[in-house]
Amino acid sequence: MSRPTDSIHGQWSSRWTFILAATGSAVGLGNIWKFPYIAGENGGGAFVLVYLLCIVAIGLPLMMAEVMIGRRGRQNPVNTLRSLAKEENKSASWGLVGWIGIVAGFIILSYYSVIAGQAIAYVFRSFAGVFEGVTADGAHQIYLSLTHDPERLLAWHTVFMVLTMVVVARGVKSGIERFVKYIMPALFAILLMLVGYAANTGDYFNQGLHFLFTPNFSKLTANGVLTAMGHAFFTLSLGMGAIMVYGSYLSKTTSIVKVSIWIAITDTVVALLAGMAIFPLAFANELTAGVGPGLIFETLPIAFGHMAGGALFGGLFFLLLVFAAWSSAISIVEPVIAWLVENKNISRRRASVTAGFGIWLLGLLTVFSFNIGENWILFGKTMFELLDYITANILLPLGGLLTAIFAGWVISKNNAKDEFAMKTPFFYPIWRVLIRFITPLAVIIVFLNVIGLLG
Ligand code: PHE
Repeated sequence: MSRPTDSIHGQWSSRWTFILAATGSAVGLGNIWKFPYIAGENGGGAFVLVYLLCIVAIGLPLMMAEVMIGRRGRQNPVNTLRSLAKEENKSASWGLVGWIGIVAGFIILSYYSVIAGQAIAYVFRSFAGVFEGVTADGAHQIYLSLTHDPERLLAWHTVFMVLTMVVVARGVKSGIERFVKYIMPALFAILLMLVGYAANTGDYFNQGLHFLFTPNFSKLTANGVLTAMGHAFFTLSLGMGAIMVYGSYLSKTTSIVKVSIWIAITDTVVALLAGMAIFPLAFANELTAGVGPGLIFETLPIAFGHMAGGALFGGLFFLLLVFAAWSSAISIVEPVIAWLVENKNISRRRASVTAGFGIWLLGLLTVFSFNIGENWILFGKTMFELLDYITANILLPLGGLLTAIFAGWVISKNNAKDEFAMKTPFFYPIWRVLIRFITPLAVIIVFLNVIGLLG
């Protein structure tokens, strides 16, 4: 199989559109919904520190590797890995790593969409003034009235899936490029405003900062470390081919190092801002940090319910969150679509309908895990928790580990350098050491630690 010089799906119109689309992929529910609640469940500071270390030691080098591999291969992750391996006279079974990504993407979007659906419901509640003057208990009840109703969750999940697949069917470029540039700055602005609001909670703000930034390692379990690492993959969209596929639409002249650093910094800042807005509110309202996936839905309405213009800002905030989730969802399913179009020879439209329906169906498990299926427990987890654990904590780190090995050991030094180093020759040797040794070892150590092999 020879390697095409361009992707059949087209190319980003500039370096900036790639940055915007990849940032749109990275910044999503992971930053604003997931990061605060898992930080809360895992004791705060020490968890955050491990997460930040993973971003630097694992996430950044791997992001560069995925962009590099994607751009060199120019096809869906399965074919790209297969053809690049063949080019180096290595086994074509490397394509299996692409499969991990396709399966992971399928599962992730199934629950991502249900949560994004909850955010859509909150747009309407907010604009309608439902949160005005709301108490902590009231906010809790409002959240339960949504999640305990399978019909409503299902309806919003359906709406979000349709929105996603419509954009995907139109093609990544004309679909995504257009709106990401407005969403990110606006989201940033409202987050800053919320942090400003939290800063006025006096001592609670300090408590919040203390919780987030003072590491207390006695609160961190081996599984917590795995969750922190898994989240580094999840939040940067790594380990499942999303960034790789976006890289395959990137022009040859763009500096991989710069764009990757930019994306990682933006993503991290958004997550930390979300944490800084949410924990002071949680503490000021006697909510425990560890309430779980409902955290943002139970805290933020309290803030919006008590500030001037809160209905408007709250509505806008959730709307932006939906947009951020939307631009992420598109990238989660793109490897699946690229694979269907390239290997099954069907149109993007048909691919979108087929994949979208399958994912929607799987999403029912998550819909029910908040209500009638609350007690369907497997390995001590609800269906939603299980799907999240399997993907974020196992499949993404595994996919990432194999991708790092591929980039560092399978692709020859010169080919990687050729693809990678154009404008940044000095950074190349550093990256190579990271991707060959540090990144894979870090993932392996965390895995062994969970299995209990490291004592
Ligand atoms: N990074 C996205 C977020 O934080 C989620 C995502 C995961 C996107 C995997 C693509 C691939 O919300």
